[in-house]
Amino acid sequence: MNRQLIVAGNWKMNKNLIEAFSLASEILAKAKKMSDKVQIVLAPPAPYLHTINSMSKDIAHVNIAAQNCHFETSGAYTGEISAEMLHSMNITYVILGHSERRKYFQEDHKILAKKVSAAIKAGVKIIFCCGEPLEIREANTQESFVLQQLEESLFHLTEAEMKQVVVAYEPIWAIGTGKTASPSQAQDMHQFIRKQIATKYTTELADACSILYGGSCKPSNAAELFAQKDVDGGLVGGASLKSEDFLQIIQKRAKQA
Ligand code: PGA
Repeated sequence: MNRQLIVAGNWKMNKNLIEAFSLASEILAKAKKMSDKVQIVLAPPAPYLHTINSMSKDIAHVNIAAQNCHFETSGAYTGEISAEMLHSMNITYVILGHSERRKYFQEDHKILAKKVSAAIKAGVKIIFCCGEPLEIREANTQESFVLQQLEESLFHLTEAEMKQVVVAYEPIWAIGTGKTASPSQAQDMHQFIRKQIATKYTTELADACSILYGGSCKPSNAAELFAQKDVDGGLVGGASLKSEDFLQIIQKRAKQA
């Protein structure tokens, strides 16, 4: 397997300035001594991106992600941040398609497709989130639901562009609920996503694409999720806000590398 193992922490709208820098310092101090087999990604709130990126710049296996970007390069969009700006700050990734952005900020397939294109054009890699709500899981139509998310917002990319994408499968019913997808539910969907990438692009590209699991990933369930052959890492919300928990999850991933 030649794909990158990744554990990413999505801090969402949490932590004030002092708290954010101390969380970042704690994680970075330990990350420095950790194996570089696992790429660590921190996604702090936008105001802290630049400083935390500078703090991490000497640790090659740590990268920083923004939690959002606009689809235009610049202009009269008060309050927004462009992918160009992220690129100018040397930010590696942007998270796009997160269910909270879809739900609370009305980001539909079309808007997301534009954001995906804007990020790639600016030279910012993407962590593209997909995943179904509970009623879709209960109706057992999660595969077609996720496939539509991929087809409408991601699969317009060229093969070269798609190499800049990490996919995160985040079943909405598992996000922040304490309810995790079982290892086999995660594996089935990750395998399905990989198969769709292979069908749309090539087997080589699908094999090289990191697919992360997100949704109540924590130290107690990380090992069994990471033991699945198509689960390359995690996109962690709540448990990324405590350095010990986040570091333990990274260690679980490193152990199975
Ligand atoms: P959670 O969030 O780990 O708190 O469930 C994951 C995410 O939304 O990325």
